Amino acid sequence: MKIYSAPMQGVTGWPFRMTHLKHYGGVDRYYMPFISVHQTRAMKGGEKRDMDPAHNEMSCMVPQLLPAGAEDTLFYMEMIRSAGYDEVSLNLGCPARTVVTKGKGAGILEDTGKLDEFLEHLFTGMEAEACGGAGSRLLEGAQSEARSACETSQSGRSGLRVTIKTRIGMNSTDQIDELIRIYNRYPIAEVQVHARLGKDAYNGIPDKEAFRRFYDGIIHPVCYNGDICSIEDFRKLHEEFPDLSAVMIGRGLVADPMLAEKIQADLNPDMQQGHIQSGHTQPGHTQSGHTQPSRVQSEHERLIRFHDDLCNAWYECYGQEHPTICRMLEIWDYLGASFPGNERKVRKIRKARDLQTYRQLAGEVLNQDYCPGAKSGSFPVGH
Ligand SMILES: Cc1cc2nc3c(=O)[nH]c(=O)nc-3n(C[C@H](O)[C@H](O)[C@H](O)COP(=O)(O)O)c2cc1C
Repeated sequence: MKIYSAPMQGVTGWPFRMTHLKHYGGVDRYYMPFISVHQTRAMKGGEKRDMDPAHNEMSCMVPQLLPAGAEDTLFYMEMIRSAGYDEVSLNLGCPARTVVTKGKGAGILEDTGKLDEFLEHLFTGMEAEACGGAGSRLLEGAQSEARSACETSQSGRSGLRVTIKTRIGMNSTDQIDELIRIYNRYPIAEVQVHARLGKDAYNGIPDKEAFRRFYDGIIHPVCYNGDICSIEDFRKLHEEFPDLSAVMIGRGLVADPMLAEKIQADLNPDMQQGHIQSGHTQPGHTQSGHTQPSRVQSEHERLIRFHDDLCNAWYECYGQEHPTICRMLEIWDYLGASFPGNERKVRKIRKARDLQTYRQLAGEVLNQDYCPGAKSGSFPVGH
């Protein structure tokens, strides 16, 4: 069972990912916030910086695309592959109205014909590129032969594994059987299911019954996502769905950055907590030369150091105080739940206009009793 850090736009940019990797173990893969596919085939400066190999630990960080047309998506996928990544995540779950109304993100789940056509073109195009760049000819012609050739391996021949991050539907669960049928037709490396409808965004509780239909019906590895905030949440899920390939954790990992490490310790009781590292780094000598957390540091001390380093990393990224504070405030939407009884103090952090004030106000909260994690469903909604 693998543990993934979920992509969160505005929260899990490269400073978060690299700082988390430096301070905590347990995460096997960090998924990057999405890059939008455009007909112009251009990327914003921030998107380029976020997937820049210099800012990432390539072996465990995965770029994500918010796909549009198949041809344009293939272009971005080739950029990702040639940058040296081995996986791309396709976002079929974004619930933002501006995205959904264009038939993108979770919007594409409404139109299963369009989804099937998109995936057909995509996997055919991947195979064609791997066979010498004859993409357009193949797209017009022998699609099914190309696809079945591609099915010989989960990564096709291009070396890029394609994972899909999906919802259980857009407006209802009526399409689940059709979605399963479509996903099963293509060589998808893993189907990662956020167990909510697109229309519910982040509201309500995940629909485990609907998720079970994916779990039972999908022939690819299946990853669960939604409201894992504690070891207890994880244990319950693991009992219900013992054959999951992975769980993906978003807000729960920001509220308790040690959560993945705790889960790995629960799964591997022989390994010492505090020394369970990502499957891609070796204790004591990581690929990026990171120092490992010391055995003597308490969980609370580790959080404070993580927070301080994260603030420095965002400042290094922007070189300006205002955007640094904005990024840190996003963290507090979730981390605040780990300091119960300090809601007023947490709200006060929002008044900070310069970094010195921010550090002082955040420090006041960080020095209070730390109760890592949050109860499921207690996170603010509205992103
Ligand atoms: C602020 C925010 C930003 C998000 N950005 C992305 C994103 O860029 N790509 C994506 O696939 N999902 C995104 N998500 C969804 C999360 O990856 C995840 O599916 C969702 O939060 C449910 O998991 P959780 O309960 O563990 O947080 C975002 C969620 C939030 C709250």
